[in-house]
Amino acid sequence: MKPNTFYLTTPIYYVNAWPHIGHAYTTLAADAIARWRRLQGDEVFFLTGTDEHGAKIAEAAQLAGQSPKLFCDKIAGQFQKIWKDLNISHTHFIRTTNKSHQAGAQYFLKLLKTKGDLYENDYQGLYCTPCENFITNKELTDKGFCSYHQKKPLSITEKNWFFKLSKYLKKVKKLIETNQLQIEPLSRKKEVLGFFKQGLTDFSVSRPSVAWGVPLPWDKMQTIYVWVDALLNYLTVFLSEDKVYKTHLQLLAGPRFKKFWPPDLHLMAKEIIKFHAIYWPAILLSLNLPLPKKIFAHGFFSINGKKMSKSLGNVINPTEMIAKFGLDATRYLLLSQFVFGNDGDIKEANFVDKYNSDLANGIGNLTARVITMAEKYFNSQVPQIQPSKSSNKKNPEQIIAQVWQDYKIAFNNLALDQCLKIIIDFAQKLDQYIQKTEPYKLIKQDRQETANVLYNLLEYLRHIAWQITPFMQNTANKIFEQLGILASEPGKSLSEAQKWGGLKSGQKIGKKEILFQRLDS
Ligand code: MSP
Repeated sequence: MKPNTFYLTTPIYYVNAWPHIGHAYTTLAADAIARWRRLQGDEVFFLTGTDEHGAKIAEAAQLAGQSPKLFCDKIAGQFQKIWKDLNISHTHFIRTTNKSHQAGAQYFLKLLKTKGDLYENDYQGLYCTPCENFITNKELTDKGFCSYHQKKPLSITEKNWFFKLSKYLKKVKKLIETNQLQIEPLSRKKEVLGFFKQGLTDFSVSRPSVAWGVPLPWDKMQTIYVWVDALLNYLTVFLSEDKVYKTHLQLLAGPRFKKFWPPDLHLMAKEIIKFHAIYWPAILLSLNLPLPKKIFAHGFFSINGKKMSKSLGNVINPTEMIAKFGLDATRYLLLSQFVFGNDGDIKEANFVDKYNSDLANGIGNLTARVITMAEKYFNSQVPQIQPSKSSNKKNPEQIIAQVWQDYKIAFNNLALDQCLKIIIDFAQKLDQYIQKTEPYKLIKQDRQETANVLYNLLEYLRHIAWQITPFMQNTANKIFEQLGILASEPGKSLSEAQKWGGLKSGQKIGKKEILFQRLDS
């Protein structure tokens, strides 16, 4: 049992090219989940990083006329910068070229060998370098291309060390079927179970012809296969900070390993599910370590109907989005585009409309209206309330409890787009509430009723600020400030914050601030 801890990972991204919104999408989703868990009081270990070895990266470095290490340093630095610009709250950024990771990867390979789960054999077949994957004829398109990259794979013959996947297949399948290893969404679980039906073979853990990699400790002619090197990052991260342990037992005794292992959630897109849902659990079974609890593989998105690719020139750079829309709006626009879990298409042309309707005219305008009325009618104070005359109305406490319930269910199902929709829909309802109650007219007739309406609006805004916190922390802070409360109401637990009546009558509110400037479409 690990009380109140949450270990969450993103894939570690290849450094062959600059970060783009595909990488940002998963990392933003992970960030929202990490922040949500922290709001609930969990101690979160949120890991991201870069995958830096292998033929693909060596080739990219060569093309750039740089040494692989310098090339990796440059792009890994770029990932770190982008995560900072996007306000990602990761606990650790791992690089597979770090000494501690390399030592760790070698260490675990030796363990696999000691367990008798590695053997030497010849591989004769296809290899797709952009996928860094051994592929079979069955996986080719009619033209003989890799179906993912639409490129002809290499035909190779080489000596590899293989992992006895066959020994663990039955067990992994059972764990998935019984949800002891949860694969989500359900469509992805079915896809993974389909792999077992198609047949799975032992896989290579080393390659002889790839110089840019971690040497295999007992066979210096080989380097560790980049996918095995990469998967082990989820484990070696604990070696890196808890010193390099010499034995397995010492690693198991490491404080952070003990605290956080096993991962609660591995997040990624669907194209790398096989490595995570089948190969990785089998490796962990061999190492005798507990398996991750959940693997969630979201969909893949295209841009304006086309696969995002350098050659098509449709790669969207998160930095450009931030320059145009600002940090929080970029986070919002990416995560709200389509159902989290499904494939989708990002239509750039929709960004401005969505920004204006949901943020500038939505949450932004609502906040401005409410704060302005409180300034104008109640001298910038939270008004005094008195029970409303019309008693047949649904009370605000029930209304907000329902919104929280829907929001929590959505969040716990990782329906991140749905969480955002719940907030935006609620903001719209509040606009309707203003239209219906017309506080700007009501103030001339019934000051107390206006006070009641405005108290509700201010208090609803406080709840909205809490709900947008995992997604748009800066905007949440600005709303808290305008409400005259400290950012994120420090010290307040989520369950306390969710209760109705957090704002105290008579309390001074802050100055109005525009949250999202309208953009020309
Ligand atoms: N290095 C491996 C992962 C090793 S993890 C032990 C790798 N790297 S990658 O740079 O290709 O990143 C793949 C991941 O980037 C996807 O799984 C997904 O998280 C994200 N995405 C990249 N492009 C994307 C889309 N177009 N749509 C959705 N996610 C995207 O694979």
